[in-house]
Amino acid sequence: MFDELTNINSKPKPFEFYTAEDLWTNEHTSKKMLEFLLGDASDVSSRSSDFIDRSISWIVDQFNLNPSSSLIDFGCGPGLYTNKFAEKGINVIGVDFSKSSLDYAWQIALNKNLNVEYILENYLEFKTKLQFDLVTMIMCDFSALSPTQRKVMLGKYRNLLKPNGKILLDIYSLNFCNAK
Ligand SMILES: C[S@@+](CC[C@H](N)C(=O)[O-])C[C@H]1O[C@@H](n2cnc3c(N)ncnc32)[C@H](O)[C@@H]1O
Repeated sequence: MFDELTNINSKPKPFEFYTAEDLWTNEHTSKKMLEFLLGDASDVSSRSSDFIDRSISWIVDQFNLNPSSSLIDFGCGPGLYTNKFAEKGINVIGVDFSKSSLDYAWQIALNKNLNVEYILENYLEFKTKLQFDLVTMIMCDFSALSPTQRKVMLGKYRNLLKPNGKILLDIYSLNFCNAK
């Protein structure tokens, strides 16, 4: 029994357990997380709507996006970015495994008659033959993945990019980690 208790209390190795699915797909917690994503009170799970609007303008300019461009967003959540890209006429696919978030994203897209596709799937397992001008993963999701999972995603991105396609990731810096 002491061995079992010691085992329970021992600190796991970094990335030993992948718990994203428990957080984002459980019916209760995923609804709570959706509230955080939609609220402007904190920047913990998504950024403020003002910051998102400025980011969208920057991304569109930076990557020369226009109605002939195609974009895939991994971990798109409730579509705070994807629906805005679609409003600009860009062809967008959003991938996420949270049904609560995708239902919200899809409802907004429907109300605004936007041309955006939402796919309910674990992005680590996502496959398609389509290729894109821009692949995005926003709000530091890349930093939450283990080194092995990051390699899986980078390999996936390589196959998903058109010849001049680009990847946009935001990541936590070492300074950010040190400040905690
Ligand atoms: C921090 S939120 C960011 C949402 C959105 N990118 C934003 O900035 O508003 C992370 C999102 O990634 C999704 N996610 C996390 N891991 C995932 C996985 N393995 N497959 C699919 N979606 C995932 C979650 O469901 C959640 O919607």
